[in-house]
Order: sequence, then C-alpha cells, then structure tokens
Amino acid sequence: MKETKYKPAQKSKHARVREGRYKQESLWSEEHPRKRVQGGITTSDVVQSAYMNGNAEVFPKLLALHVPEGSLVADVTYGQGVFWRNVPEGKYIIKATDLKTGVDCRKLPYSDKSIDCVVLDPPYMEGLLRRNADHLGGVGSYKSFRNAYSDGNGGDGGPKWHKAVLDLYFKAGKEAHRVLCEKGIFIVKCQDEVSAGKQNLTHVELINEYASMGFYAKDLFVVVRLNNASVSRLKKQVHARKNHSYFLVFVKIR
Ligand SMILES: C[S@@+](CC[C@H](N)C(=O)[O-])C[C@H]1O[C@@H](n2cnc3c(N)ncnc32)[C@H](O)[C@@H]1O
Repeated sequence: MKETKYKPAQKSKHARVREGRYKQESLWSEEHPRKRVQGGITTSDVVQSAYMNGNAEVFPKLLALHVPEGSLVADVTYGQGVFWRNVPEGKYIIKATDLKTGVDCRKLPYSDKSIDCVVLDPPYMEGLLRRNADHLGGVGSYKSFRNAYSDGNGGDGGPKWHKAVLDLYFKAGKEAHRVLCEKGIFIVKCQDEVSAGKQNLTHVELINEYASMGFYAKDLFVVVRLNNASVSRLKKQVHARKNHSYFLVFVKIR
C-alpha cells in the first residue's frame, strides 16, 4: 500500500474559480454603487467533458475539478498506477491497492465512511479479459475469468460474460459506498461492450445501478483513444467499433 503526504500547493486564479473559491474583490460598480457587477472571469481554461487523450492526461483534470487537494483517495484497482502519472506528488493521500497485491475491491480493509474518494477501474470487457493475462480475472480461459470474478466459490453458477463484468462493478460499488464518507466521490472508469453479439451500454447500466445505491452521477467524461483499433477476422460489421471509454464521477448522497 502506497501512502504519500499532502503538501499544500500554490493555486492559480483559474483553479480557484473551478473550485468555487475565487472571490471577486467587489461585486458593486464604483461608478454606480447601486449597480451589481457580474462576478467570475472569462476564460477558455475549463475542464471539458471529452478528450482525445490518454487516461493519464484526463484523470488529473477530473481530480482537479471534483476532488479537493489533501483528500484521502483509495484507488482500489491501482494496476500500474497509470492514472496517477501526471498527478503531482503529495497532492492527495493515496491508498493504492489491487487484487494483485492481495486486496479485493469487493472487500476493502477500510472502516465505514473513512475515505473521501474511491477510484475503480476493474477489467471492463469480458473479451479483453480472456485475452489479457495482465488483467487478473482473465488468465487465459473463460472459467478462470469467472473464477476471479466470483465470490471465491470457484465461479460455477456465477454470472457469465457481460453479467460477470457488471457483477464486479456492482459489488465494488456497494463496497465503495460503505467506505466513502458523506458526499464522498466515486470515480469509475468503464467502457461499453458488445458481448455475445449484443450491445451493452455499460455506463448506463452502472449509472442506474449506482443511483439505486445512493450515488448521484455528477459528471461524465468521454476519453477517445488516439490510435485506430484494428479488427481481426471481420466479415460484416454490425456495431460501430468502440474507440471511447468513460470516467463517471458519482457523489454519495445517501
Ligand atoms: C484496467 S486495469 C487498472 C489500470 C489502472 N487504473 C492503472 O492506472 O494502471 C484493471 C485492474 O483491476 C485489477 N483487478 C481485477 N479484479 C480485481 C478485484 N476483484 N479487486 C481488485 N482489483 C482487481 C487487476 O489486477 C488490474 O490491475
């Protein structure tokens, strides 16, 4: 588990505007003291909802908008830590865990309401999982994929295919809800997928399920990949090839 200490950093005016902390000196016109002057500044330096860029470039922007500096952040599927590559050291207190380091995101070692922000980025496609041994949960076979997604009972009788992906997201969401403090932020990375020939809008399924748990979907970011995805053995294209994924930002409201 990696922990870094918070060091206060100098804030720009734009950053303070984003955080709602920028105060204009006077809201009243000096020439006409009864006339109210509009607050705020004109700027194009704003966080946007879609980027053609990598996760490492987009993640710090959404953190800056939604997670106050000094927050205690649990990244529960830390992986290689790509998300954190461009986040200044010391800006947050990070608790980095992963199944590979022995912590299951469905059973976190934190007490109730103790964390300010949870970051979740589990394997988001069953097809990708079965091919990519780097993603635990898919070490070569469908059965091993299901095993890693089960509750530790071997996976037989557990959810299959896309439902197995959702099952992990849902259980991890429930656990995030437990450990998050009131108004805590839940950041979820996901991608829609066509599984067994059927279109699954994962981000919609997650928003609906998490809403029923008490999460308000405060923001949504679209990340468009820079390179073109190649397709092997394409006979007839049925669905658009996905070249985008999402960061969903939830607030725990009840
Ligand atoms: C898409 S990668 C995460 C990449 C990461 N966000 C980064 O920036 O490098 C998915 C990660 O989920 C982890 N994982 C899979 N099942 C898990 C589980 N049940 N609990 C915790 N981590 C899990 C995998 O070990 C893998 O590191």
